[in-house]
Amino acid sequence: MRAFTPTRRALALGLVGACAGGCAPQGASSFAAPASRQFPPDFLWGVASAAFQTEGGLDADGRGQSIWDAFPRDRIADRSDASVACDSYRRFGEDAALIADAGLKAHRFSIAWPRIVPDGESAGVNQAGLDHYARVIDTLLERGVTPYATLFHWDLPLRLQERGGWANRDTAQHFADYAAVVSETLGDRLKHIVVLNEAAVHAVVGHVLGMHAPGLSDAALLGPVIHHQNLAQGLAIQAMRAGRGDLSIGATMALMPSRRAGGLLAPLHGLAADGFDEVWNRAFLDPVFRGAYPKTALAMVESVLRDGDLAITRQPLEFLGVNYYAPSYMRFELSAPSHLAPAAPPDGVELDAFGRHIDPSGLYEVLTRLREEYGNPRVLITENGCSDRFSEGPAMIEDQFRVDYLRRHLEAVKSAMEAGADIGGYFHWTLIDNWEWAEGYRSKFGLVAMDRPSGVRTPKASYAWFKALAETGILTAA
Ligand code: GCO
Repeated sequence: MRAFTPTRRALALGLVGACAGGCAPQGASSFAAPASRQFPPDFLWGVASAAFQTEGGLDADGRGQSIWDAFPRDRIADRSDASVACDSYRRFGEDAALIADAGLKAHRFSIAWPRIVPDGESAGVNQAGLDHYARVIDTLLERGVTPYATLFHWDLPLRLQERGGWANRDTAQHFADYAAVVSETLGDRLKHIVVLNEAAVHAVVGHVLGMHAPGLSDAALLGPVIHHQNLAQGLAIQAMRAGRGDLSIGATMALMPSRRAGGLLAPLHGLAADGFDEVWNRAFLDPVFRGAYPKTALAMVESVLRDGDLAITRQPLEFLGVNYYAPSYMRFELSAPSHLAPAAPPDGVELDAFGRHIDPSGLYEVLTRLREEYGNPRVLITENGCSDRFSEGPAMIEDQFRVDYLRRHLEAVKSAMEAGADIGGYFHWTLIDNWEWAEGYRSKFGLVAMDRPSGVRTPKASYAWFKALAETGILTAA
């Protein structure tokens, strides 16, 4: 059996362990090749990024500190920090040119909460931070690129963390106040907003595994952090809609099919896979689409759930953002918390440099599930991509592996569309090699390489391939 490579997502719930043997995973789905390789003319092609991973300029223009500023460098693989990153705080014009030159019509970036409200409370709005994002938005619009701004991509103002962060219910209201400031001041031009990015990753990897900021390892925080993020999202949507009626608002979730290990204990492994699904996927989907929590998640959030909360979390969305990288495999483990433990992926599965296995059928499965079980919402793929091999040296410019990855995942998207899923666009993660959280700079997901420290950008082979796709809408065969 292939050695199990724990990734931050596979490590979810803090449960590390290899399958003891005799438990080859089952349940992988497959999909038929698309009948046509032509995407509709209005299909939106874009790229996605996040403030802390790209901007640098951490002291510029009155920005407050975030939890990532305080995250210990010895927990970053290459001991680096994001003080320069891609220097996009200053070079956003160059980035916008790269996006437009590739024929892309949309850019998903994130607004850093601590640039707008340095201490997290709306009394102290920082005009210089708002002015910066107004310039970013205008620059994109001038180039014919539609801005999609994420309001929270994990960079919580540090002062709020000192008061309990997402474990404190007040944070939800502070977030809604910040969202209202953004929509009031920038919403005349910024019409597409993603509220939270991957609340599951932030909850689990940041509060249970300690591998992301705020770097906590306390399973008791999981329920409160899940619920207060869901609540914050609902309150923010209400606040933004109260001020403006013409916004297109979505939420971005890290959705992973949860598959079970096989073998004699397969039925028990199935229970583990269902339990993981309830905490990772449904704890975020159900409060929005159904105004409810599934059983396993409910047990975790019950202590902080108040009457009326689930009416707040249940908000209509103009789109659901799906981030997809890999499925998860789970097994029953008596000694593990909640009896959930990650299982090894099937033999023969390809792994990317990140240790994530490459499996486009998981994307098809996620998209089909949304169509069948969640009322076929309008979906945008807001992230999908793969890393070069880990290296502290230069990027791989001839990145045929990335072209293959893209092609196979887009076949899954197209097949899901042909089966009836309502999918309106695909944002590749990411434009430029950037600071990949706990992996620092050694992980490189970009269509464009960046030389450090000069910051010079060099398109990779995948950039030209993606440009041809965006310009023609035709997904070429291998
Ligand atoms: C995420 C984040 C991104 C990552 C990307 C690659 O999905 O975890 O949104 O910030 O950089 O996923 O790991």
